[in-house]
Amino acid sequence: MIGTDLADGRIVIYRGEDGAARAMSAFCKHMGADLSAGGDVVGNDIRCPYHHWAYTDGGRCSNIPSGDAIPRGSNLVDLPLREELGLIWVFFGETPLYDLPGFDEFDDEKHVYRAFEIELKSKLLVDPWIFTTNVFDVVHNRVVHGLNIADPTIEDVNPFLRRMTWDAAHTGEKATGDWRPDIEVFGTNSIRTRSVMDGRLKWYIAAMTPCGRQGTREFFTIITTKDEESEERLDKWQAMHNRFVNEDLPILNNMRTGDLRLVAADRAMGRFIQAAREYPRTSLDAMETAANRKRS
Ligand code: FES
Ligand SMILES: [Fe+2]
Repeated sequence: MIGTDLADGRIVIYRGEDGAARAMSAFCKHMGADLSAGGDVVGNDIRCPYHHWAYTDGGRCSNIPSGDAIPRGSNLVDLPLREELGLIWVFFGETPLYDLPGFDEFDDEKHVYRAFEIELKSKLLVDPWIFTTNVFDVVHNRVVHGLNIADPTIEDVNPFLRRMTWDAAHTGEKATGDWRPDIEVFGTNSIRTRSVMDGRLKWYIAAMTPCGRQGTREFFTIITTKDEESEERLDKWQAMHNRFVNEDLPILNNMRTGDLRLVAADRAMGRFIQAAREYPRTSLDAMETAANRKRS
């Protein structure tokens, strides 16, 4: 069982006896105890540590041991969840607006993956979508990360999916080598990339997650060919992504993104920023209220 802040609230993620993971809002409807701080999994339900109210699939309050009737509006919200190559994804809404980024081609015999969280030198204080603008920000890749990008092509597939392809080379002191990625950005905070780096298969999925008091955290799964070099490569790429994010960190943490003067080189990023501004919004609190209204 784990608990994490998410957007305006907190969620608990736990695995029931049946092995399936579930994600629910974490504050008990009785007196607001955090289910992830001392709660127990009982069968497939989660039980609050404070007075043992229990919640079941769908977030429904299923038992109050004092024998009282369950009050109206005593349900948590449960979030759509999927596990993919070492990461647990939740969709922040009632129904996913797009498929989660995964790799159907992943083959245990041929590939290995490593899931990890980026080690930030300090808390990342900006919303996830601001970090995502990085992907479309071709100029900063050169001046901040030493990655020279040629011929970027960008396609807005639909409001929730953008594709980008480049030919890039690391120049300068930071790193050397070529990188040819096909990048897809899902929603405002998820990235899937298929690429070849230094002549070797490199796929990855990255998720920028708004974790409230913990700031924005970034989770990765990197995949490569299974052979005697895989671990060494995964070490190297993990270190590279850690470096990229930490190079951006002090800049991102001190930005103010109100009135922008974007130029032609920023076109793809500008379209993404516009889409992020128009993206549907909700809060855990609003979802929980709606879930309770539906039930009563
Ligand atoms: S606060 Fe959870 S049962 Fe009382
Ligand atoms: Fe960057």
